[in-house]
Amino acid sequence: MTDKDDLFSLDGRVVVVTGGSRGLGREMCLSFAERGATVVVASRKLEKCEALAAEITERTGQEALGLALHVGRWEECEPFVDRVVDEFGAIDVLVNNAGSSPQYPSLADVSERLFDSVTGLNMKGPFRLSVLVGDHMAGTGRGGSIINVSSAAAVQPTQGEVPYAMAKAGLNNLTLALARVYAPTVRVNCIMPGPFFTDVAAAWDMESFNKSAARSIPLGRGGEPHEIVGAALYLASNASSFTTGAIIKIDGGLAWSPG
Ligand SMILES: NC(=O)c1ccc[n+]([C@@H]2O[C@H](COP(=O)([O-])OP(=O)(O)OC[C@H]3O[C@@H](n4cnc5c(N)ncnc54)[C@H](OP(=O)(O)O)[C@@H]3O)[C@@H](O)[C@H]2O)c1
Repeated sequence: MTDKDDLFSLDGRVVVVTGGSRGLGREMCLSFAERGATVVVASRKLEKCEALAAEITERTGQEALGLALHVGRWEECEPFVDRVVDEFGAIDVLVNNAGSSPQYPSLADVSERLFDSVTGLNMKGPFRLSVLVGDHMAGTGRGGSIINVSSAAAVQPTQGEVPYAMAKAGLNNLTLALARVYAPTVRVNCIMPGPFFTDVAAAWDMESFNKSAARSIPLGRGGEPHEIVGAALYLASNASSFTTGAIIKIDGGLAWSPG
């Protein structure tokens, strides 16, 4: 095998994916394991994480562990990171993928509780996890890769997702900051998705979505969940060894601005 064949290999790496139980996270977990990684699937619902971990092992033969974590709860982050390091000895890749944007009737109806919950999940938790894991990665000398998952809303906010868009813009900014803080041992990058047909799409009016996609997305459609995998594998593996502080749009061309 040449170095080029090995470019996307994750053999021997320990990868943690928050929000790994379904949607884009599930696709990433499976593809990381297919490339040889040990995978930790984390979300609020332990049974869902354990079920996917069992499926990963059955399908790929790789070790996988499901763990419960509420990303917006600061106090849960450190015990979570310690648990993974105790179990596997290291974390090589962290994917801050958990995120959501609850609907609200109007901006005036956004409560402090909703605002804090949205920014907690999409920005505060990823900050805390990244710092804990970044310090760990830098300390081991093995280095590592941190991948944030933001949203095209970070650069093209709409009125139905203002607190979410603010938080995702913060996540883009965190990417740039930590890429410098943890260089040269740890690389920190961001995937900025446009609309993907995960569970969130159940709430969409498909007729109006399709009309708007034809108008505003150069590729004319939303993404299928598996279409996130190429960017995730690139950023997790040695294929991106000279890439840090990058914000990569995976959005069919939707966003005008890169980050
Ligand atoms: N799909 C899109 O159109 C789209 C567009 C732009 C950006 N994104 C971003 O892409 C990422 C993945 O989106 P997706 O569409 O795959 O989402 P999804 O299908 O709704 O799945 C969300 C995942 O996050 C977990 N989760 C939710 N709240 C959590 C919390 N407080 N703590 C820990 N885990 C939590 C969920 O599991 P539990 O319920 O068990 O916690 C689930 O595993 C998100 O960051 C999202 O903002 C998605």
